[in-house]
Amino acid sequence: MCGIVGYVGKNKQALHVLIEGLKALEYRGYDSSGVAFLNNNKIQIIKEKGKIHNLEVKIDFSVTSNLGIGHTRWATHGEPSQINAHPHKVGKITLVHNGIIENYEELKLVLKESGYSFISETDTEVACALIDKLYNEKNDILKVMDKCRNLIRGSYAFAILVDDIDDKLFVMRKDSPLIIALGNDENYVASDVPAILKFTNRYILLNNNEMAVLTSDSVKVYKDSNTIIKKDIDTFEWDMEAAMKNGYEHYMLKEINEEPEVVYNTIYNLIKNGSEELSSIFPDFSKYKKIDIVACGSAYHAGLIGKTLIEKYGDIPVNVEVASEYRYKKLFYNNRTLVIIISQSGETADSLAALRIAKEHDVDTLAIVNVVGSSIAREAKYVLYTKAGVEIAVATTKAYSSQLAVLSLIALSMINNDDNFDNFVSDCQKLETQMTNLIKKHNVYRDIALEIYQKNDIFFLGRGIDYALAMEGSLKLKEISYLHSEAYPAGELKHGTISLIEKDTPVIAIATDETLNEKIISNIKEVKARGASVILLTTSKLNKVGDYYDYKIVVDDNNELLQSLLTIIPLQLLSYEVAKLKGCDIDKPRNLAKSVTVE
Ligand code: F6R
Repeated sequence: MCGIVGYVGKNKQALHVLIEGLKALEYRGYDSSGVAFLNNNKIQIIKEKGKIHNLEVKIDFSVTSNLGIGHTRWATHGEPSQINAHPHKVGKITLVHNGIIENYEELKLVLKESGYSFISETDTEVACALIDKLYNEKNDILKVMDKCRNLIRGSYAFAILVDDIDDKLFVMRKDSPLIIALGNDENYVASDVPAILKFTNRYILLNNNEMAVLTSDSVKVYKDSNTIIKKDIDTFEWDMEAAMKNGYEHYMLKEINEEPEVVYNTIYNLIKNGSEELSSIFPDFSKYKKIDIVACGSAYHAGLIGKTLIEKYGDIPVNVEVASEYRYKKLFYNNRTLVIIISQSGETADSLAALRIAKEHDVDTLAIVNVVGSSIAREAKYVLYTKAGVEIAVATTKAYSSQLAVLSLIALSMINNDDNFDNFVSDCQKLETQMTNLIKKHNVYRDIALEIYQKNDIFFLGRGIDYALAMEGSLKLKEISYLHSEAYPAGELKHGTISLIEKDTPVIAIATDETLNEKIISNIKEVKARGASVILLTTSKLNKVGDYYDYKIVVDDNNELLQSLLTIIPLQLLSYEVAKLKGCDIDKPRNLAKSVTVE
């Protein structure tokens, strides 16, 4: 998740501010970083792959500069590398960018015809060239920024330096956050509060489609190149920790709220160039007759959902195993087996061991990983990255959802049909809003949490894909609220476990699969008849009035490939609310570590 910081001022050395600001943004995750600064009337750029330390050691901090921009990059277009790192410079324009420019391929073609050539694979360099081209024509940067808003599709926060303007910093944004922070005889720009909190706590929030010009002693915000807007100055009351949580009480809640965006980013990153790109990024799945998915915890649960989708759409048998078991069991590999390892951290010892076993047998391996450059990402034959950004809460939420998104795309790629692809793309657009609306229904989750948080045991029921979701819902509840729960395939309960159901035992029944709906309703009636208090989680399409539930949560319908991304949200938020009512340490549950690097 990229970060921006910028400085114009009389009191401090820009390079010092930029590096301090970038370090404060490290928690967002990044794979390269860079700065551009004005020195002796010339803009200099230094950028490096990897940690900010790699950049820092290349900088001569005795160089004086009062104007500069800095960036941490989390790769979207083009691999993590020094060339793809920001800032980018084309002609007279130097800029850093957060967001995704969706029509960059089209723009690139037009710019190439006008004589521009490109050295990086990024969408950002294209934006930089576009601004340079327009600036050469108009020679008025505000008018150029204004015009760009009509030409660029997608999301962006830009901080821009112009070669022949040595005392101004220009910024603009759409759908990517940007704030302007105010000092004395100095002003700052940042994508995120922590970047400037060390220097000032007074700020202006830049709204969508606004542009601004900063000098050391003035900030002017524009609606268009002729209209200045009067903005309120606010004050941050948060300390650094609170700022990193972006106002949320816990990282887990912040990360759940990020799910719509990271799922979009994960999917967009893989489909941005159409269905053909999918087949070039993914291994040729038609080569394989059998797939083993191996993972731990929530990643294993994501794998179970992947199995259902891949078997249905790809018609390939999929075996899903917990890595700690897989590594010691007899394996039935052949030369048409693919092993998929799913891991947020890319460092989980058992998952890494399973990967190495597959490699020792010369079996193809594909890693679905969040952390770029992690051991599993480095060692697997093929890698698909989830774009969840850094996940700080120990209990995974947004990384799990991003794993589901990649698995859906794998299943989609196996259908190999343009109509399905187009439907999927439009369903993804719908999904972002549906997820956001579902997250907002806090009161619903809170009310149900109030009913169950003092119970001793809770049961989660589901069938098919809903059983895999039940397992994840149950794990979430256990790990953060310490409330005992069990997930069961709904049809299996009567073979023993139903003896545990008594008056008011909470049962969370997940029913989103139309083909199994009547079956699960019968199973729900079985527990209801024994006194259970049933919380039904279903979809709009299957929603009907009945006397077999006590509470109901209804999620919107979407493409079967994407439905789980909606269904999981109430389960995550319910666990969160229960843990909160119980006063648990939500972000750091007892006995758990974020990355389990021991066997
Ligand atoms: C649960 C959770 C764990 C992880 C598991 C695998 O909320 O976070 O169950 O999913 O430890 O970790 P990764 O995905 O890093 O391999």
